[in-house]
Amino acid sequence: MSDTKPPSPVKRLWGGRFTDETDALVQAFNASVAVDQALAFDDIEGSIAHATMLKETGILAVEEAEAIINGLTTIREEIARGAFTWRTELEDVHMNIEQALIERIGPVGGKLHTARSRNDQVATDFRLWLRRESQELSALLTRLRKVLVAVAEQHLMVIMPGYTHLQVAQPVLFAHHLLAYYEMFSRDQERLQDSIKRLNVSPLGAGALAGVTFPIDRHRTSALLGFDRPADNSLDAVSDRDFALEFLSITSIAMLHLSRLSEELILWSSQEFGFITLPDAYTTGSSIMPQKKNPDVCELVRGKTGRVYGQLLALLTVMKGLPLTYHKDLQEDKEGVMDAALTLKISLQLYADLLPKITVHAERTYQAAGRAYSNATDLADYLTKKGLPFREAHEAVGKLVAVAIKEGKELQELELATLRQVSPLFDRYVYEALSLEQVVNARNSYGGTAPAQVRQQLQRAKEALAL
Ligand code: ARG
Repeated sequence: MSDTKPPSPVKRLWGGRFTDETDALVQAFNASVAVDQALAFDDIEGSIAHATMLKETGILAVEEAEAIINGLTTIREEIARGAFTWRTELEDVHMNIEQALIERIGPVGGKLHTARSRNDQVATDFRLWLRRESQELSALLTRLRKVLVAVAEQHLMVIMPGYTHLQVAQPVLFAHHLLAYYEMFSRDQERLQDSIKRLNVSPLGAGALAGVTFPIDRHRTSALLGFDRPADNSLDAVSDRDFALEFLSITSIAMLHLSRLSEELILWSSQEFGFITLPDAYTTGSSIMPQKKNPDVCELVRGKTGRVYGQLLALLTVMKGLPLTYHKDLQEDKEGVMDAALTLKISLQLYADLLPKITVHAERTYQAAGRAYSNATDLADYLTKKGLPFREAHEAVGKLVAVAIKEGKELQELELATLRQVSPLFDRYVYEALSLEQVVNARNSYGGTAPAQVRQQLQRAKEALAL
């Protein structure tokens, strides 16, 4: 008696050929249920579609399929109520649910897995899950785009410095700057929508890898689950994770955009810039310095961008050496995708809430825009419009900038006589071209910063958003 092992608490669903128990540490290492229980509703939806098809094709008897579907519906309710116990020894979401089904409806529950493998099952579940997440993210991107349009409109005439190399370059409208982010998030949303075309293909019925020996109807399960079509090649169907990689690329790029926005808000709210004040509710204090107000939310979004990139690189690396078809390595596909989806979701929500609450200090941005000879290009353009080749005009104005620096003056403070020393083409009207308002108004080319152009950009954005 002393050398007999205690009976295993649950029968392993694949245990037929094994004599010994799985090592405890291996069991824990192998299990994915802590992560993939997030797929529970998708798993049940997939199983109900599969059972429905098995019934319709006569592979299962009507009563059998109905018992299975009822059992699955009960389990779904238990999970929704939080009354379902997930067991690590049952490895993953699929076997937890299948075992629960057998426990509730008896051996007929064991017929659900006819003509199916966990390999096509998990790929199906993951696609269903990701389709829903992509749609949620897309809705959040719409919300953020609307917020950007609203905040841009609210501050339509605010002038700020535009930068290149983080050096003051030319003045721009604050609204123009925000609408640049609108463009980025529009592209993110477009990428997401486009990726759904490739995501929305059904692996179900591919079996373990080679197809199945039963007369299944893959078009039917595909349609029941709202997929556009069944995947064409069973080997590809179970081993393809392009959809997850594409999702991680898209979330990485969207986080990149949020990170650049974060960086700007952090700079703008610093004492040196003083362009904006962040809302109290989105900042924190210091445990030692009583005066501090730190832009933690922006910093965290910037910081978490690194994590999302990491998830992309992790999955690319998991995939790169895998021969066809399924390998347990593929179980590593979900955690990073789920983390990236959640991180982007929260970040988008935070920014949609935060942006309308920033205070813009228009006098300060105006002052900053007028510094550092930001109207020098306009002075050169003035000469160019009088017929001087631009390259010569650039040279002439460069000299004037040097004079202005030496005299501690702005370009518009230089005497006409001084200007005429470098070019006789200057006349007294030149000063009109140099005011900040005129510098901005003059950039009336398509997509430019002139208020007329920015109004049109806003108009186009509103039409795209059906506002
Ligand atoms: N938990 C597994 C995963 O996420 C499900 C598929 C298991 N398939 C297998 N042949 N062991 O990948």
